[in-house]
Amino acid sequence: MCSIFIVCEGVDGSGKSTQLNLLNKYLNQKGIKTLVTREPGGTPVGEKIRELLLDPNYPELMDRTEALLYAAARAQLVAQVMRPTLKQGIVVLCDRYIDSTLAYQGYGRGMDLDFLRSINKLASGGLAPNLTVLLDLAPEEGLARSRRERAADRLESQSLNFYHKVREGYLELAKRKPEAYLVVDARQEMEQIHHIICTRIGGLLNV
Ligand code: TYD
Repeated sequence: MCSIFIVCEGVDGSGKSTQLNLLNKYLNQKGIKTLVTREPGGTPVGEKIRELLLDPNYPELMDRTEALLYAAARAQLVAQVMRPTLKQGIVVLCDRYIDSTLAYQGYGRGMDLDFLRSINKLASGGLAPNLTVLLDLAPEEGLARSRRERAADRLESQSLNFYHKVREGYLELAKRKPEAYLVVDARQEMEQIHHIICTRIGGLLNV
């Protein structure tokens, strides 16, 4: 049984959900069972927390409160969905995970990385992805893409400087543990990115 956990990360508008959906289809065509989920959310409890986190009507939300809410949604997703699914040998594909907290709350907002790591260790029980696909893109390009699609939510209304720090944070995380990451230049064509991801994950899953 292949209980493999794959995470896709990147700044807003980097194309994560498109690539996860393409990867999902590819794996299913190869006869591999998958579950696609996302953060914050992925469970009824998590989706409620997501509504609160992305609501622009709460500018008073404190950094620690925000970080703990992400961790709370994550705790629910790990226990209710991810662990039972992985136990059945199903591949889990997740749009964002702990690195989003490290990149956005840590590198972006300047919160203490050790604090964030410790609350997330508690929330996840130490569940770590086998591979993180990082879609690397300049925030200007990512935001332009997502704003074309819909109005900005609370997080997207942040300054561009914030997103630069987020991007650098992701790259730093990948640099520290290169074997656990696939960093892809997200300016490439969708099909080309898909091909790069499938080649790496095909290797992991022997397909
Ligand atoms: P979403 O609309 O899902 O954005 P995207 O399509 O880019 O993934 O909103 C998720 C937002 O939440 C996104 O701006 C990143 C942010 N986020 C954090 O700040 N910390 C976290 O731990 C997670 C999971 C997300």
